[in-house]
Amino acid sequence: MTYDVLAARRQFPSLHRPSEHGRTPVYFDNPAGTQVVQDVIDRVTGYFLTSNANSGGTFETSRRTDAMVEGVRAKVARFLGAPNPHEIAFGPNMTTLNFALSRAIARTLKPGDEIILTRMDHDANVSPWLRIAADHGLVVRWVDLNVEDCTLNLDSFEAALTDRTKVVCIVHASNAAGTINPVAHIVAMAKAAGALTVVDAVQSAPHIPIDVQALGCDFLLCSSYKFFGPHLGILWGHYDLLAELPVYKVRPSHDEPPHRWETGTGCYELIAGLGGVMDYLDRMNGGRGPSPAPFVAYERELTTALITMLEHVPGVRIYGITDANRAAERVPTVIFEMDGYKPEQVAAHLAAQDIYVWHGNYYAVEIMDRLGKPDGLVRVGLTHYNTTEEIDRLGVALRMLT
Ligand SMILES: Cc1ncc(COP(=O)(O)O)c(C=O)c1O
Repeated sequence: MTYDVLAARRQFPSLHRPSEHGRTPVYFDNPAGTQVVQDVIDRVTGYFLTSNANSGGTFETSRRTDAMVEGVRAKVARFLGAPNPHEIAFGPNMTTLNFALSRAIARTLKPGDEIILTRMDHDANVSPWLRIAADHGLVVRWVDLNVEDCTLNLDSFEAALTDRTKVVCIVHASNAAGTINPVAHIVAMAKAAGALTVVDAVQSAPHIPIDVQALGCDFLLCSSYKFFGPHLGILWGHYDLLAELPVYKVRPSHDEPPHRWETGTGCYELIAGLGGVMDYLDRMNGGRGPSPAPFVAYERELTTALITMLEHVPGVRIYGITDANRAAERVPTVIFEMDGYKPEQVAAHLAAQDIYVWHGNYYAVEIMDRLGKPDGLVRVGLTHYNTTEEIDRLGVALRMLT
């Protein structure tokens, strides 16, 4: 089955809206949030029209809400390779869910216990753990970066792992350099040391199929607005752990997973929208289940085209993996700097051309620190609805600065 980018683009109405300058914008801000597929818009509207109610009532709209949520859980479980839909909890975003997870795990730890964090992680998988470390007297050990290609230094991971390690937190794909980490390998080593593993899949879920059972981790978090859906976070965890951990919750709410992790009233209309994304990804995958698998080869081609273009623009320096033979080690997110300009100036120049990119540190604080980039870098994040013509447009706009 050949991938048809124009057919995909037709399903994203916002891609075709002209900007304030009358041009079609180029959305290269995808790691910060993608555009949504028409199914999402339809499901959100449809929910409000037919099912809008709180959960747990005996009447039609409440029953429809509960049935819809359970249906979407099952689809998301399939998307993540989870064996049980009741291992999927929804929340406002990944960060909030991770704070809840870290606080619950913290109550099982004692002073002197150790946790491992990486210099590649987004702060959403760093600060929740630094907070509990400060509150509970835990020791934090860091996994370093190989700055030359922005990969994780696995020697430093081995050195950090001890018989006191209780939690290992690891990002699946970097939201800055785009590096995909060898998570299954890291998880296996962490498990052998008896540690829990928390995987941040926010930037991998839009680009590569996720299988929590193959990864072997205990918890995995992602965010639906990064893969063509609404602003909603997702936590997956092993059922027994979700059942046992002393999560903070209100007394009258259900005590079984996943409900005990879903504090307060859910974002039901957004969960309905997420169901639309799952159906889109299933449809694109020929009915073999919701997955970004059909986009992988195309996105790799696009990434190579982007990197090649950037390498030919005078004064541009890319950070991260650039070798096309290593395309499988990265997602299509590329960071760079340009001689003579601050990242914000480059981003503002591109914005004036209706090319939307990010600048700064995008909360990947440690990696920018390690690269010695206090102003951050420019980030171009591709996804399956981007085209080579858009990359050409970026090239023309960057050359205006040389
Ligand atoms: C790798 C990574 N982890 C976590 C987050 C935080 O996700 P959320 O906005 O859902 O809290 C982001 C957001 O950009 C991210 O890129």
